[in-house]
Amino acid sequence: MRMYDIIQKKKRGGVLTDEEISAFVSGYVREEIPDYQAAALLMAICFVGMTPEETAALTFAIRDSGEKPDFGAISGFRVDKHSTGGVGDKTSLVAAPIVAALGVKVAKMSGRGLGHTGGTIDKLEAIRGFRTDLSAAEFAAVVNRVGLAVTGQSRTLAPADRKLYALRDVTATVDSIPLIASSIMGKKLAADDDGIVLDVKCGSGAFMKTEEESMVLAKTMVDIGKRAGKKMLAFVTDMDRPLGRTIGNSLEVAEAAETLAGKGPDDLLSLSLELSAAMLSLAGKGSLEECRKAAEDAVKSGIALETLAAMTEAQGGEASWILDPTRFPKARCRAAFCAPQSGYLVHTDAEGYGRAALALGAGRARLDDHIYPAAGITLLAKTGDFVKAGECVALLDSEEEARLDDAKAILAASTRYGDAPPVSRPLLLACVE
Ligand code: URA
Repeated sequence: MRMYDIIQKKKRGGVLTDEEISAFVSGYVREEIPDYQAAALLMAICFVGMTPEETAALTFAIRDSGEKPDFGAISGFRVDKHSTGGVGDKTSLVAAPIVAALGVKVAKMSGRGLGHTGGTIDKLEAIRGFRTDLSAAEFAAVVNRVGLAVTGQSRTLAPADRKLYALRDVTATVDSIPLIASSIMGKKLAADDDGIVLDVKCGSGAFMKTEEESMVLAKTMVDIGKRAGKKMLAFVTDMDRPLGRTIGNSLEVAEAAETLAGKGPDDLLSLSLELSAAMLSLAGKGSLEECRKAAEDAVKSGIALETLAAMTEAQGGEASWILDPTRFPKARCRAAFCAPQSGYLVHTDAEGYGRAALALGAGRARLDDHIYPAAGITLLAKTGDFVKAGECVALLDSEEEARLDDAKAILAASTRYGDAPPVSRPLLLACVE
């Protein structure tokens, strides 16, 4: 089988066989196929697309490209939740403890943030002492004892995705639905959970800008998961504006803990309850309504917050910070971003707000950038609110004074004011089963 022929076939609109796809992925991982040929095939896929069968074959080849974690020591149904990436999205830190508190195991392998979107591992590492490099035995022990553990993805998990993603990043081949779906699901299926809930973000802060594209991505990933024998459910949710009131690692963990203590913002709580209900329902705990009610009760009774604190302690972190988020260290410098005019906030552009947080030091533009845990943005007003001229819209935190002005300039360009409130679309846009 020659790589030249595979590229030619796809370029001419052909449908690749499972064998051709698997030969491409394994040959590329073994470095027998050079980057230029892999890039040519990726570009052909961007233009021609893939059938559902080809997309599934690509996903399974990525899944099988490395070592699978051995979760044999974890008893019971395991469910995971994955977001395609957003700004201020800390729902994993709220939903996972709720689900675990209600008796369903969450063995979560998460990634780091890149660009304007955040990652759960960076957020948790903002808690002093929190370890995200658990061995397989430690991970299984924490999941069995607490119901929930979160660790980083090992380098041996689906290595084909790491190589392919790095190549896509520099060859303008990221934005293809079969490539995105197989990249996300290849890693998720390698972790081999029994059920997966997907939160496909839609809007300026997301990969997918329109509801149509987001629906196609959600359906594609649900189809792949079902072909692999997994219980699947996907939501399409709004990411035109940041979720909750904070962007930045320790600010977001504090907000997640406050939400579990019943003091969080409505949008974050309601989306986290929906995601929890879906995870519980996939695990056979009842209908979505019954599970939503159980999730609400787990927040009201405090058991979900206790579960987050227990996981933090079990992973070496300061559990007292979860129970009293005012203990998170503060950044050295703070500035206010104020409204230049009176009016309704008609648009707080999620991507722009994510880029401003990045400028403050809360994220990384490149994989090896250093991040400041306490850097970030606290929103005092959100899309739809009325603000007076000079009123503070957001507080900016950074370790370096010079970064504050850069972030303010980005926020100024990302915030629009108007005389009438905006027509707002709901947070939850669609559900794909
Ligand atoms: N996230 C991934 O893991 N892969 C993609 O291709 C896009 C988003």
